[in-house]
Amino acid sequence: MPQDPLAIVQGAVEALRDRGSHLLASADSLARLASTTTAAAPDQQSQPEPARAARKFTEKVADFAPTRSADHTAKAAPVISKAGVATETGTKAERLAAMRGPVLACAKCPYLAASRTQVVFGVGNPEAEVMFVGEAPGADEDLAGEPFVGRAGQLLTKMIETMGFHRREVYIANVLKCRPHMPPGESGNRKPTGAEMETCKPYLLDQIGIIQPRIIVALGATALEGLLGEQKLGITKARGTWREFHGVPLMPTFHPSYLLHNQSLVEKRKVWEDMLAVLERMGRPITAKQRAYFLPR
Ligand code: URA
Repeated sequence: MPQDPLAIVQGAVEALRDRGSHLLASADSLARLASTTTAAAPDQQSQPEPARAARKFTEKVADFAPTRSADHTAKAAPVISKAGVATETGTKAERLAAMRGPVLACAKCPYLAASRTQVVFGVGNPEAEVMFVGEAPGADEDLAGEPFVGRAGQLLTKMIETMGFHRREVYIANVLKCRPHMPPGESGNRKPTGAEMETCKPYLLDQIGIIQPRIIVALGATALEGLLGEQKLGITKARGTWREFHGVPLMPTFHPSYLLHNQSLVEKRKVWEDMLAVLERMGRPITAKQRAYFLPR
């Protein structure tokens, strides 16, 4: 029995969605495409007619369907496979709450468990569209139990607000959830090791998998390295260029602490342009005033 052309169209659209493409075509143009004919490849000739038609259609649509990385209207990130302690059911808030206990009790790095005041889980909106990821808690965060509350955090909060969000609207987390301990007698912060970040990364993966942000912002070289393993390129070259993390578009930018040390307009503008790119990709309105921040007068 010949198959309904609409069913063929729907099958093809679903196949594309499964492959991560988001279709931006009207029903009319889909119907027109469904009725087009192209010569089938020899190995497809033996397929039953509806399957052949659906495949031809899928290939045609794939020609103009935007890829995920070029799709500025993508709403939901693909589900990331569960790697750590997340449960599979419940709302995003419930699932984040359910994984908090095991993460707070983590002792996978016994020396960090011994030196920390507390684990710094992450903070913000479980339904956030944007997630900011830093490297590890510092002394202030270790005491407060919340990421980015020190000087760098205050600058990050300003940046988020300048973008038009409230801090509570986005989600903020670190690759490493414990403050990297300092050798006895030394103060300050140290960079987390690759091994520490790898050990902790399943928790971040779970957080991202639950929240499914539309965009991730990697704050600084270490966060970028922790997320993508990109060590060689360096943040100076990587910033401002879109990456992908498990199907989620990722924008690397400088860490706010870099801006605390280098207050030049030029460097601030670079970070701001990265944030404008994020807003553009999300389809958020951007005012002329916002576009002009940190430009030389
Ligand atoms: N720097 C980070 O990378 N994360 C924090 O939470 C604080 C400072």
